[in-house]
Amino acid sequence: MVSSLTRSLILLLLINFVDAGRTLWKIKERVHQLQLQKAKQLLLTHQPVQPVKEGRIHQQLDHFNRQDPRTFPQRFFVNEVFWRRPDGPVFLFIGGEGPILEFDVLAGHHVDMAAEHGALLLALEHRFYGNSINQDGLKTENLVHLSSQQALADLAVFHKFICQSFNLSHRNTWISFGGSYSGALSAWFRGKFPHLVFGAVASSAPVKALLDFSAYSNAVGLSLLNEAVGGSEKCLAAVRGAFAAVEAELTAGNAKQVAKDFRCCQVPEDLSDKVELMQNLADIVMGTVQYNEEGVLMTINEICRVMTNHSEENEPYDRLVKLAQIYRSTSEESCVDISHEKTVKDLMNTSLHLGRRAERAWTYQTCTEFGFYQTCEDASCPFSGMVTLQTLTEVCPKVFGISQHSLPGRIAFTNAYYGGDNPATPRVLYVNGGVDPWRELSVVQDRTEGGEEVQTIFIKDTAHCADMMSNRVTDRRSLREAREEIQKRVSGWLKTAAQDQMEEKNT
Ligand SMILES: *[C@@H]1O[C@H](CO)[C@@H](O)[C@H](O)[C@H]1NC(C)=O
Ligand SMILES: *[C@@H]1O[C@H](CO)[C@@H](O)[C@H](O)[C@H]1NC(C)=O
Ligand SMILES: *[C@@H]1O[C@H](CO)[C@@H](O)[C@H](O)[C@H]1NC(C)=O
Repeated sequence: MVSSLTRSLILLLLINFVDAGRTLWKIKERVHQLQLQKAKQLLLTHQPVQPVKEGRIHQQLDHFNRQDPRTFPQRFFVNEVFWRRPDGPVFLFIGGEGPILEFDVLAGHHVDMAAEHGALLLALEHRFYGNSINQDGLKTENLVHLSSQQALADLAVFHKFICQSFNLSHRNTWISFGGSYSGALSAWFRGKFPHLVFGAVASSAPVKALLDFSAYSNAVGLSLLNEAVGGSEKCLAAVRGAFAAVEAELTAGNAKQVAKDFRCCQVPEDLSDKVELMQNLADIVMGTVQYNEEGVLMTINEICRVMTNHSEENEPYDRLVKLAQIYRSTSEESCVDISHEKTVKDLMNTSLHLGRRAERAWTYQTCTEFGFYQTCEDASCPFSGMVTLQTLTEVCPKVFGISQHSLPGRIAFTNAYYGGDNPATPRVLYVNGGVDPWRELSVVQDRTEGGEEVQTIFIKDTAHCADMMSNRVTDRRSLREAREEIQKRVSGWLKTAAQDQMEEKNT
């Protein structure tokens, strides 16, 4: 059951090899990887190695059909080093659309807070991601059991399992943590199971499902304008001009030259390949904005320096070529795969050995629950208008046999079920960054009445999930202050819980 840091190192290396798929997805994985590597360096130099236990729980495959006896193995990690037995609190890190790692209970802001409060640290992997999946799990007929509702039920069962294994009682106060999709799960877990989890931190959590997420690209445009992070009007104009120029070249029949300029593995002949190319180019800018200053590839400031560089007689098109080249030089890819046919083929592959398998599972969740399609049909979108809702949602029927017409109803259900961006759950803290396009689908404005505690923290100049990392010397002051505020809130919840217990005892 005990595993070691060495295994994590190997895992990190493996992630490099499974790097495949759309550029934005790859950037996301690299961010994760880089954060882990930084955490690892910090851990190895500052502390003795802490023993992390890995375990598995056999979960019902379908919590809502009691006639179905099938199960799947769900992975979790435990770090007991800080735990003040027997009554110390429990900090649960909720896994999202990818594997969990030991570092999820070894590093990060929630771990720093666990050390402060003597908390037992847990991380639970999301069903159908990482190792928490049956051999035939990715077959389309089995994906019926992949949903956020099932994932929340997994958390409830896991709660009970841990309480039994560690002899916990109502005196052990649970707090949940998560970022991005798992941030939404953290908020929803508290909303649906308030008797199990006393408070929840939801970082950059898109709690509102939305079919046409055109606001994403528009928010990226606004960040390119934002002078506090190195943006400018010139920068946005140059990006807009460059994408218009690439689109014009493609329309004028110069696909061969475009493919050469941007080092595509194929010449984009079909419309679907051209869309794939435009999407991959937009991803470089989107990924940079979403993870600004998190230490991966470029920052908004650097993108804008390249895109507004007039030192040579060149056009925005040439600067975008340069930008793509800089991105490629950091990614070990010799050429950019823009074959839509291959994308669809990979998404249809149900093998657990495929690098893109998390992408298949997540695409299924976008088709059935969340939407989140980053379209560019609005006039204000700085990228290519070729990326439409129609083209982005074609994967749903092609890969899963889910009709495009059914999507609005599915998304409406998600919002009806959870409350969208206007949920009424006390003791959930929504933390968002002003540079992060996902803030559009989170709770950023307090709708609390007088006397209730404020539910939101808005960090005006940081990107996606920045608050989840431990403090770094390079962090902006706003970010440090936000972490202090989160810390204060979590301490406050634990105090309230302790008081509630005292009162119970006295009555
Ligand atoms: C749990 O509590 C029971 C009864 O108090 C005790 O016998 C058992 O050893 C405890 N188990 C653990 C893991 O602490
Ligand atoms: C601007 O372009 C020139 C010529 O290509 C190059 O030497 C210089 O480094 C560029 N500056 C930036 C900030 O990219
Ligand atoms: C699916 O992916 C696996 C692993 O990459 C590969 O071996 C297999 O050939 C693929 N199957 C199909 C039908 O493409």
